[in-house]
Amino acid sequence: MDKEEKKKQSAEKAYEIVKKGLNRDTVLGIGTGSTTNYFIEILNQEKLDLKGAVCSSNASEKYLKKSNIEILSLNDVHKIDFYVDGADEFNSRKELIKGGGGALTREKILAHSSETFICIVDDSKYSDLLGNFPVPIEVIDLARSAISREVMKMGGRPVYRNNFVTDNGHQIIDVHNLDLNVPYETELTINKIPGVVENGIFSSRKADIILLATDSGIEEIKD
Ligand code: A5P
Repeated sequence: MDKEEKKKQSAEKAYEIVKKGLNRDTVLGIGTGSTTNYFIEILNQEKLDLKGAVCSSNASEKYLKKSNIEILSLNDVHKIDFYVDGADEFNSRKELIKGGGGALTREKILAHSSETFICIVDDSKYSDLLGNFPVPIEVIDLARSAISREVMKMGGRPVYRNNFVTDNGHQIIDVHNLDLNVPYETELTINKIPGVVENGIFSSRKADIILLATDSGIEEIKD
């Protein structure tokens, strides 16, 4: 089965789960990326009776506008019932690296505000030890070099993401070779560096359910 078909199947499974738990007060959180786009595609075709959805990027918001779902601001809702999003890498503890598409800050905010975080991935994203994918860090522009020096002290190799500005108006550095034996600690350590807006390690708020698409079907990873 090719990768795109796997992404699609993972999105379909997420829709099945979300649909079962829906009511008129339900707020959905919508992530960003090619796998999430398959989920949005389903939402665009179905007519769901729910309160609305909060999106993690301008791109997802624009795509979701084709549906009948009301777009909400996180400030106007008490919580997100289901947050559905992809990942760049995941491990069996449901910790993730995200932000390949640059939406990591809003994604982490939505994940933290959600009751159930459903992560949709194909099996190419699995890694026993996170770190094959570089950790994206969204930074305040003037702190970029200072932050790069700090992550180098941690053993990382920072690469400035050229010609890229996040939806929040900031730059991104992608950090290779970080020690991610304890992702939770690395996540907190990076976020303590002045000028860091957010980093793409999702350990303090992991996924609740990972819907992993493989050649032999969807595997559900949950507690
Ligand atoms: C966006 O910033 C990312 O966190 C995405 O969730 C991640 O890059 C997964 O994207 P794909 O589904 O396109 O692989």
